[in-house]
Amino acid sequence: MEKPASSAAQIAQSMHAMEMSQTDTFDAAEFRRALGSFATGVTIITTRDADGNNIGLTANSFNSVSLNPPLVLWSLAESSNSLAAFRQAAHWAVHVLAADQEPLSTRFAKRGVDKFAGLDCELGVDGVPLLRGCTARFECRTAFQYEGGDHVIFVGQVLNFTRADSAPLVFHSGRYADATRRDAGIKPRNAYLAGSFNEDFLGYLLGRSHHQFFSKIRSHLDAEGLSDEEFYLLSTLTLKHDLSASELDAGMAGVLDDHSAPALQSLLQRGLAQSLADSSGQAYELTLEGRACALRIITAAKAVEQQLLERLGPGEGEVLKSLLNRLLSATDAGASAIWQRAEG
Ligand SMILES: Cc1cc2nc3c(=O)[nH]c(=O)nc-3n(C[C@H](O)[C@H](O)[C@H](O)COP(=O)(O)O)c2cc1C
Repeated sequence: MEKPASSAAQIAQSMHAMEMSQTDTFDAAEFRRALGSFATGVTIITTRDADGNNIGLTANSFNSVSLNPPLVLWSLAESSNSLAAFRQAAHWAVHVLAADQEPLSTRFAKRGVDKFAGLDCELGVDGVPLLRGCTARFECRTAFQYEGGDHVIFVGQVLNFTRADSAPLVFHSGRYADATRRDAGIKPRNAYLAGSFNEDFLGYLLGRSHHQFFSKIRSHLDAEGLSDEEFYLLSTLTLKHDLSASELDAGMAGVLDDHSAPALQSLLQRGLAQSLADSSGQAYELTLEGRACALRIITAAKAVEQQLLERLGPGEGEVLKSLLNRLLSATDAGASAIWQRAEG
């Protein structure tokens, strides 16, 4: 492909015009923030330099340009250590990162480190290193390079691409984010009584979802002869090898409260849990039979979870869990207390 038609004089003229109206008139940090309000995906662009070294960096300036011919672009800061390599490179590859690849993005956004250390790369056109596990990958031949202020814009002709149905990593307002689809078909309906507990009310959504989920695993609880309360206690006891009486109380506070003691008594009587008395006081653990019982129910419950999550889009289950976890840690000090000690 040829260089673009604009003359050097035209470019110089427009650069001069830009300098005249430049950032003295507005705040640079605010300008960055305004640009950051444009949500993007995250990519890693890789190439190989003249000495055969692997080069790569995180970039969110990637965009599509043309379908026919197939062209994409991205821009590279003049200050980048990778500039010389990309200026000379005949080929490079764009990797659109998946939601679980934030660590890879962070790694490739660092300077002066061996970004490829320990990575198992494939080799692409011209020996360009290709990363695995991405949402999409485009192998490109350099078509054009443009000066763009303090960046260089690279336009590439796509030679090959791959695609997967995984959730994308998103970048917005300087932070990583998740993407979820909007479901145009589902809108909260208004109740007859204005301001009622309608489908826009969190309590309704949480309560009804919980009810639906549980109704699907209740037959497994029935088969084990467990009540909801006993199951809840049993699953709490799987969090840690042994739980002190006060940890158990903290975990049950606001959930089982008064029902906790009879449920615990029942698990002890049935030989599913046993009490331990150590120097720090009373504690409880699952017996072998209790663990086997918990594992049977967990396996069944995970299968139910899998079926339900398959009805959501890629990565949306993770987003839902992350939001519920945040809600819980904001509202349920008891639950997070158990986790802190369980991790410690
Ligand atoms: C989400 C994200 C997007 C980025 N996008 C770009 C970009 O489009 N162009 C760019 O030059 N740098 C971008 N950077 C910064 C580079 O990744 C970073 O400066 C890197 O250290 C450059 O490495 P190098 O100096 O080894 O080339 C981005 C960083 C992050 C975290």
